[in-house]
Amino acid sequence: MALFLLLLSFSLLSISPNHALQFKEAPKFYNSPNCLSHDHTVNIAMTLDSVYLRGSMAAILSILHHSSCPDNLRFHFISASSTATCRDLNRTIATSFPYLTYYMYTLNDTTVAGLISTSIRSSLDCPLNYARNYLATLLPESVKRVVYLDDDVVLVDDIAKLAATSLGDTAVLAAPQYCNANFRSYFTPSFWANPALSMTFEGRNACYFNTGVMVIDLERWREGDFTTKITEWMELQKRMRIYELGSLPPFLLVFAGKIAPVDHRWNQHGLGGDNFHGLCRDLHPGPVSLLHWSGKGKPWARLDAGRPCPLDSLWAPFDLLETPFLLDP
Ligand SMILES: *[C@@H]1O[C@H](CO)[C@@H](O)[C@H](O)[C@H]1NC(C)=O
Ligand SMILES: *[C@@H]1O[C@H](CO)[C@@H](O)[C@H](O)[C@H]1NC(C)=O
Repeated sequence: MALFLLLLSFSLLSISPNHALQFKEAPKFYNSPNCLSHDHTVNIAMTLDSVYLRGSMAAILSILHHSSCPDNLRFHFISASSTATCRDLNRTIATSFPYLTYYMYTLNDTTVAGLISTSIRSSLDCPLNYARNYLATLLPESVKRVVYLDDDVVLVDDIAKLAATSLGDTAVLAAPQYCNANFRSYFTPSFWANPALSMTFEGRNACYFNTGVMVIDLERWREGDFTTKITEWMELQKRMRIYELGSLPPFLLVFAGKIAPVDHRWNQHGLGGDNFHGLCRDLHPGPVSLLHWSGKGKPWARLDAGRPCPLDSLWAPFDLLETPFLLDP
């Protein structure tokens, strides 16, 4: 019966004629008998943009599918500030996930663009990458804890467990951290050569962490005004190159060595590998709760090109893209 309902709902197409991509309608998900707390809200923040929309849709479906209490989930989507874009994205979400509880926000990209150093632009410098800096102000005060996720992830475990990650008495955020990574490489030689700057990491045991999977205490963030602290480093970056491009280094400057760890099972990362050399990555040893296609390659692009990596088959079941035109001879 459940299977029949699932097949039925997958066969109903969501029609949004103004949109380039057509997505299927996801089934409705119900709290399962394993749901222990029916009123324990889990807040999830993600960005939405037309380029990575297919990834976001798969991530949302995977979260719902593995949640024992899908009714408890509240999604917070942040898009760029163009009204037309926001309306199109909202239409896609509303049509594919008619039962989802979600809220839409727009990031003022003018403010962010003014903070991004203009010397070299790359895809890493898209204003929406900086949305995670502004969650504490974008989301309402009533949201006290949020799970932030990149759009190239798929969950295979209950997000409530990730949301329950302990932040201890003082940490503002939790993220998967990697102390074997070469931390120095995220900053320029002129940063390390300037004691007034490099002193910021003194006595902190700073390690690289991934900002694509974070649990954030928004109350602590607001109290400490961390948006301003991150912004100050971005202002400095505009005047002198202290790091290579991207939204990660200002996060490292403010938080490295001060975060709580997220179990690495929630960030089986690097699965994107490298599109150019066609390298496929394997899973890291240990359990798997979240698959993260970080890196240059994306599973949907490889599947479309007919050259998927073996692990891309774990992403494919969550792909909501409707492909009637590709199937047409
Ligand atoms: C999104 O779409 C839904 C359904 O059409 C509508 O009720 C809601 O007001 C829209 N939200 C925004 C922010 O446009
Ligand atoms: C966005 O930010 C710019 C520059 O800070 C400001 O002039 C503009 O009014 C803001 N737009 C909105 C819609 O808040």
